Amino acid sequence: QASSIAADRVPDMGKRKLMNLLLLGAISLPSGFMLVPYATFFVPPGSGSGAGGQVAKDALGNDVIASEWIKTHGPGDKTLTQGLKGDPTYLVVEKDRSLATYGINAVCTHLGCVVPFNTAENKFICPCHGSQYNEQGKVVRGPAPLSLALAHADIDEGKVVFVPWVETDFRTGEAPWWS
Ligand code: FES
Repeated sequence: QASSIAADRVPDMGKRKLMNLLLLGAISLPSGFMLVPYATFFVPPGSGSGAGGQVAKDALGNDVIASEWIKTHGPGDKTLTQGLKGDPTYLVVEKDRSLATYGINAVCTHLGCVVPFNTAENKFICPCHGSQYNEQGKVVRGPAPLSLALAHADIDEGKVVFVPWVETDFRTGEAPWWS
């Protein structure tokens, strides 16, 4: 009896090994192909990332195309994108439907919470300790000590590119604390 069970299992084991090999092949083949775009992701796309700039990424990780963005985001819209150093950064649509030339870093200057925009109040209001910033990110209520950081939002070959803001903060007339 025992030998008949063993005999039954031998071809079974063989099949299983074959299945495992096929499965391994099915998994490793596509991942091999995926390595190519993955590797090229880290190669700067030429002019787009000169001078420390970085192409803005939407919530899905895709490059932000300025013309497409304007079509899907109305006047006054402020939507988070991935900005410099991976910081969540608001892309702003002006009232005339053009893209603002600055992006607003969403990291609260108090203790670093990501600050949502409150449309009804027309302010950024931090959910952590109640700091408030006006619609351009200038601090109007503590405990946050400083305004939200800025980045230039340039358009290069149709894509939105964030570039470090090293000039005077136009909201306060002071040197940028973040650079
Ligand atoms: Fe925003 Fe404290 S982290 S108010």
